[in-house]
Amino acid sequence: PLLARAYHEKVISHYEQPRNVGSMPKNDIDVGTGLVGAPACGDVMKLQIRVDENGIISDVKFKTFGCGSAIASSSYMTERVKGLSLDEAGKIKNTEIAKELCLPPVKLHCSMLAEDAIRSAIRDYRSKRSALSNPKQAGF
Ligand code: FES
Ligand code: FES
Repeated sequence: PLLARAYHEKVISHYEQPRNVGSMPKNDIDVGTGLVGAPACGDVMKLQIRVDENGIISDVKFKTFGCGSAIASSSYMTERVKGLSLDEAGKIKNTEIAKELCLPPVKLHCSMLAEDAIRSAIRDYRSKRSALSNPKQAGF
């Protein structure tokens, strides 16, 4: 019962009905893929963004092999970043997710996974783009 009370209904909703589960083609030039792990527990999160011609995140998908809080955090993150620019999305803090989902302190690292994953997806997208405009550097 103690544990049950610690979990806010928003976590449960995102856990039972996670939004935007799935994946996108990794080699698509419009897609950025973030794959991160939590050192604390070994859980893994993959988060992918699709970026439109205006630099806006038009689609987001995730797959998380982890605890309920990690699944809820990634589900929340996918909804949060849709429609944002890369800069805006890169500024989202895990503390915001934790607060929004009312995660208990021991579950803070689960929300950190979502912050790491979106940053890593943005980095991947940007490096693919810069490889495109610097073909020699990319070894083409
Ligand atoms: Fe095992 Fe998160 S610690 S699922
Ligand atoms: Fe490790 Fe949630 S991600 S316990």
